[in-house]
Amino acid sequence: EEQKRSRAGHPRVRVQRLYAEAAHYLEPANAYVHIKGWVRTVRDQKQFAFVQVNDGSNVSGVQVVVDGSLPSFHEVTQLTTGCSVAVLGYVRESPGKEQPIEIHATSVELIGSVSSEYPLQKKRHSFEFLRGIAHLRPRTNSFAAVARIRSALASATHTFFQSMGFIYLHSPIITSSDCEGAGEMFRVTTLPPGAGDDQADFFGQRVSLTVSGQLSAEAYACALGDVYTFGPTFRAENSNTKRHLAEFWMIEPEMAFASRDDAMDNAEAYVKYGVSFLLDKQWEDLQFFDRFIEKGIVQKLEMTRDLPFARVTYTDAIEILFKSKEKFEFRPEWGADLQTEHERYLAEKHFQRPVFVYNYPAKIKAFYMRSNDSESNAEGRRTVAAFDLLVPGIGELIGGSQREERYEMLLSRMQELNLNPDQYWWYLDLRRYGTVPHAGYGLGFERFVQYCTGMDNIRDVIPFPRYPGHCDF
Ligand code: 4AD
Repeated sequence: EEQKRSRAGHPRVRVQRLYAEAAHYLEPANAYVHIKGWVRTVRDQKQFAFVQVNDGSNVSGVQVVVDGSLPSFHEVTQLTTGCSVAVLGYVRESPGKEQPIEIHATSVELIGSVSSEYPLQKKRHSFEFLRGIAHLRPRTNSFAAVARIRSALASATHTFFQSMGFIYLHSPIITSSDCEGAGEMFRVTTLPPGAGDDQADFFGQRVSLTVSGQLSAEAYACALGDVYTFGPTFRAENSNTKRHLAEFWMIEPEMAFASRDDAMDNAEAYVKYGVSFLLDKQWEDLQFFDRFIEKGIVQKLEMTRDLPFARVTYTDAIEILFKSKEKFEFRPEWGADLQTEHERYLAEKHFQRPVFVYNYPAKIKAFYMRSNDSESNAEGRRTVAAFDLLVPGIGELIGGSQREERYEMLLSRMQELNLNPDQYWWYLDLRRYGTVPHAGYGLGFERFVQYCTGMDNIRDVIPFPRYPGHCDF
């Protein structure tokens, strides 16, 4: 009778919820629950069997205790890793130290069995091996925890910007503008018949996948004040590194009536908010990463939340690198881009915390960055109001700038860089009609997830990574 009532009246409970609201579920009136998930391990102790069931909502899953008198006991003891099951039972306090509660099953139903070739075993698999079975890797603790952190950070992102009154902008994926002017775009063409790579077919012009939503965000910021994008971006750079993907997600806030410093302040507040959101809400996952992936990561995140970030000009950063005793592969030099080894030295060894480097030489930065032409010294005048946020373990997490809002200055900069102003006519229009100082930045979401999990390779923090030679799933 009670089972029937329960099946009808109680929807499935997520295991994470059982733990979070244990006191509620331990009340006799609420103790009868229904969970569905995948078997991790089965321990057959003759009188009892212990089945660890994971439904993806937390790291540990829940221990299901099955009494030997249950009619399906024999079937339960035959369950193997990966089988999907539905369990009905009572929540009880657990006598074991491993978990505060467990479920005493009144029924265990096998939903899907597992054939003998199942590639996931109880042992730890290398991340490289798991990349080859990206469709199954979310069943492992590490990848499930990464997925939950990604989801929580995405939620924190929206909460942060929405609570500050930013408008969420859906910038286009297919575009005819190259935002970074670096020519690292994937061309979009229609399939044959009648179309080829060189034909300006469907759109009447060559179009590509976007490298950044910034230019669209500027248009909307110059009407709505503060906006942000959060979407996929694409780079056809042939970078086989642990920090580059061909498809990655970027958060790009853009603020009108704002300076470089306003953008840096906002970036610092956003990163701190994201980290503190995880410390608050994803504690079990962070403990997991601290234990198995990066020792001390919780402390690192607490420091990120609590200490102000450092700020240093590019010129001073070069000076610091120059004076350091560190042996760099690339010699630091004013006018050259910082290499990852330089970025990591600054964040990890010198400042030992996230650091903004700002006012980069104009010649190594994009066309849209505002010139520091009113700086008092000659070297300063050769810089633009750009900034990068460098963080320990990763290097560059954010790139941003104040934008060149002066029509003539922007035009001459485009000409200097051999960009065709006709292609950017609408972008130039923003400077002709009620222009305002404005600033923004882009944060690479996967690098943020790496920073918060300690995962070494960016290919392991996005569900189905795209990188040179790999687009298999
Ligand atoms: O510095 P980037 O290229 O800046 C822009 O695209 C600007 N339009 C952003 C803006 O001002 N709105 O890229 C911004 C960030 C980098 O700091 C990095 O975290 C990430 O995007 N990023 C990548 N992440 C993974 N794979 C790649 N290939 C990446 N390229 C950039």
